[in-house]
Amino acid sequence: MILWALLAALGLGGVITGSPTVTAPPDAASHTHAETVEESKNSERVKGISAKPAVVGTVEETIEVVMELGELNPNHYPAQRAAKVVEHYLNTQHGSPYKVFTLHRVLSASAEDVPDSGRKYQLKLSVQESVHHQTIEECLAEVLFPTGESHAPPQVQVSSCEDLLKINVTVQEENLYQQYKRNDSHLFAQNLPDSYGHMEPEHVPFWHLGIVVSSFVMLSESTQDTLYNMAQVANVSQLATEDNLLKFDYDVLLHERVSQEIFAWKMLVTWSPSDGVKVLKMEKKDYTVKNLKITLL
Ligand SMILES: *[C@@H]1O[C@H](CO)[C@@H](O)[C@H](O)[C@H]1NC(C)=O
Ligand SMILES: *[C@@H]1O[C@H](CO)[C@@H](O)[C@H](O)[C@H]1NC(C)=O
Ligand SMILES: *[C@@H]1O[C@H](CO)[C@@H](O)[C@H](O)[C@H]1NC(C)=O
Repeated sequence: MILWALLAALGLGGVITGSPTVTAPPDAASHTHAETVEESKNSERVKGISAKPAVVGTVEETIEVVMELGELNPNHYPAQRAAKVVEHYLNTQHGSPYKVFTLHRVLSASAEDVPDSGRKYQLKLSVQESVHHQTIEECLAEVLFPTGESHAPPQVQVSSCEDLLKINVTVQEENLYQQYKRNDSHLFAQNLPDSYGHMEPEHVPFWHLGIVVSSFVMLSESTQDTLYNMAQVANVSQLATEDNLLKFDYDVLLHERVSQEIFAWKMLVTWSPSDGVKVLKMEKKDYTVKNLKITLL
């Protein structure tokens, strides 16, 4: 069940079909069983969505105007994209192999342009802690996408979801840490999850950690025109260290849902229960995904 919930939380279902400007609200209930992202399809997709209100068809084929300023429809892309950034932010601040935050639902959203600053979103959203997936809490958040060419990452502030952050995973973290700290046969794993949606139970914490480290990239790469999910941990290997930290080399595949592109990133990270997750290095890889098949259980 945990696995299922987490795979569903990847948000890879609900394939966006039809014209390139179709908006499909991410909906946990509408996951398809498999999604094949092929390179040939990518070229037909339009990158981003125009800043003007656009006429779009939803999955139900109704025609609606997507508002991009003022009160927003919580299910439309502008609100969803801003809320997704909150998920990435929470993971960078509080994530661990036993704590992974996932956007559950956008409850309300509004956007305004702040002169010389950027576009600011006020959001009320519910967030799920996916490892203990019965835990869902409402949070208030503010996301500012800075203007300008510098491509500065969005600035995020979150309040009022303290209970979610207080989930106590001390015992699990300590067990994992002890196991891999004293273990000479260092962790090495590939394809978490594999194309059948499967992974070994002992690899699950490193898949979670992969989502958390990916959030560092996804937070810094996010703009108003992106919706990132971690698709797969392609490789993870543990490296020897002199200090008290566990050190990992991750190759992750990130799925950008608006363009339907897959990006590969290499990350060098450390983790320990007391120090949390630290990213030492992140580097975009020159990598072409030919035919990645991700199966949702
Ligand atoms: C978390 O749980 C552990 C073990 O049950 C306990 O020792 C510790 O004080 C708890 N931490 C917090 C912050 O509640
Ligand atoms: C060391 O790691 C291997 C592979 O993950 C595992 O099978 C083994 O049980 C671990 N040993 C200890 C002492 O934790
Ligand atoms: C994973 O590692 C293999 C080599 O073991 C490499 O060929 C592949 O490119 C890596 N995957 C990614 C996404 O970097």
